[in-house]
Amino acid sequence: MKIAKISGIGHYVPELKVSNNDLSKLMDTNDEWIYSRTGIRNRYIAVSETSYEMAGFAALRALEKAGLDPIDVDLIIVATFSGEYATPSMACLVQKAIGAVKAMSFDLNAACSGFVYGIDVADQFIKTGKYKNALVIGSEKLSQILDWEDRSTCVLFGDGAGAVVLEAGDDVGIIDSVNYAIGEAYECLYAKNVGNKTPFYEEQNEHKLMMNGQDVFQFACKKVPEILYEVMEKNQVNQEDVDYFVLHQANVRIVTKIAKRMKISIDKFYVNMEAYGNTSAASIPIALSEMSEKNMLIGKKVLIAGFGAGLTYGCSLIQF
Ligand code: ACO
Repeated sequence: MKIAKISGIGHYVPELKVSNNDLSKLMDTNDEWIYSRTGIRNRYIAVSETSYEMAGFAALRALEKAGLDPIDVDLIIVATFSGEYATPSMACLVQKAIGAVKAMSFDLNAACSGFVYGIDVADQFIKTGKYKNALVIGSEKLSQILDWEDRSTCVLFGDGAGAVVLEAGDDVGIIDSVNYAIGEAYECLYAKNVGNKTPFYEEQNEHKLMMNGQDVFQFACKKVPEILYEVMEKNQVNQEDVDYFVLHQANVRIVTKIAKRMKISIDKFYVNMEAYGNTSAASIPIALSEMSEKNMLIGKKVLIAGFGAGLTYGCSLIQF
């Protein structure tokens, strides 16, 4: 059986960088409140870029690193919940933008766990031999669905995209993944679609992100360690064998608490939310892309873990 190897990683963030101090000029907030509670200082906001353009830029960078021509891409999965179109999928728009004319293309919505879910799905297509390669992209333009009058949520998020190329190989790659959902707890974190007026009923939903921050915090700190232990035990890997843990970059206090709970040195956890804020499905591939640029990944064993609306959560064990 083939193993899905990560052969290229890339990311893209918008041109406009917005600091906590910039936000404090627009609303009643300040750098001290945001940074001390979240570890976030800056985020990027896509003013001129669409979410599918960001996805396409990240994809082209990953393909270039992999040395793969877009025309040879078999599968495109975009993990997102903040695209401009309800249909077509963002993946189809990326396919057009990069010229990957042969690729089966679809979106996957598992919110901030979307990239990890996408890796698991693409891995199945490659393991079975159906496809030789896949692009898995996380791209979010969260700025267009945030409630900019709710200072308790809008300061947390940022826009951006990250992408990986998976290719069928024989030695290293995705070792295993576990993914779950707790639909009954969906009200902790959601964004409704914009409503429509009909002759039969009137409904004006607001396409804004709503969150009970403390419930999400508790959920992440409880469930992420469970799945990390599960995938390590299943694959007979000790936490000492894992070189890096790359969690969804929501909040540094979540990462610190998980490291402490699992008695793992915080140095093994890659964190970059200070620079980007929470970019949802894009946060893990952006982190992997940075790590790859810093030559941190070659030969390393890495656990990635996502958690977010759904509630969804999942992790993958990867040998680079
Ligand atoms: N600036 C200044 N003050 C603020 C701000 C702000 N931006 N936002 C809220 N406050 C005020 C509140 O009004 C409140 O004031 P009050 O006590 O006078 O009413 C006070 O700060 C405290 O608010 P809390 O909500 O209690 O703050 P808390 O310490 O819980 O921190 C936070 C909130 C940062 C959201 C925290 O709950 C958290 O990190 N949760 C995890 C959320 C998360 O990471 N979500 C994303 C994961 S899933 C995904 O990625 C989609």
